[in-house]
Amino acid sequence: MRYITIALAKGRLAKQTMGILSQIGITCEEMEDKESRKLIFTNEEMGYRFFLAKANDVPTYVEYGAADIGIVGKDTIVEEGRKLYEVLDLDLGKCRMCVAGPESAREALDAGRMIRVATKYPAIAKEYFNNVRHQTVEIIKLNGSIELAPIVGLSEVIVDIVETGSTLRENGLVVLEEIMPLSARMVVNRVSMKMEQERISKLIGDMREVIEKRG
Ligand code: PRP
Repeated sequence: MRYITIALAKGRLAKQTMGILSQIGITCEEMEDKESRKLIFTNEEMGYRFFLAKANDVPTYVEYGAADIGIVGKDTIVEEGRKLYEVLDLDLGKCRMCVAGPESAREALDAGRMIRVATKYPAIAKEYFNNVRHQTVEIIKLNGSIELAPIVGLSEVIVDIVETGSTLRENGLVVLEEIMPLSARMVVNRVSMKMEQERISKLIGDMREVIEKRG
């Protein structure tokens, strides 16, 4: 039997996904060893292989077929824009992609002025301002702690993920606009979907049942 290879975005999401998989009998003990520096894990009997990757790289592994399946946030899927099938919403890691900033930035935003937008998601920000708001902006790519940008005067607003809203609140910022709701998704390589149709469809169906039961 050929292995089905699953790429997981490192971190909490990977753990929660393994939790769902264990409920349908797909386990991987090897993965629980925290001391281990191993990057790839197998479940021989069931014919599964798992590896942990940086979230941004998960869609790349799946597009090229190095992984048949990927589990990653919708934010990363949209930002990376890879050719793959999105087949299941895992209902985990729910949050929103938003335009945020100080209340005082609302006016310039609403007036469609040329503003600066700091973000870890330049493609999402560009698509939103170009095609939804029809507004010309300058996009500044950052790699983290995006909330700093409007505070220190790097940009008027940010495009970032808001989960509980406490990072914004604690830094005197507010949500100005909502771009899209986000959660973790399963993506599948386009060739694998055909070649392994039976196993992958069963996996999707079994996972969907667990997810629905969790409510
Ligand atoms: C994310 C995001 C926000 C924060 C939102 O950052 O970029 O900063 O979480 O969560 P909250 O609404 O619950 O406060 P993350 O912690 O992933 O780190 P980063 O700043 O390095 O991107």
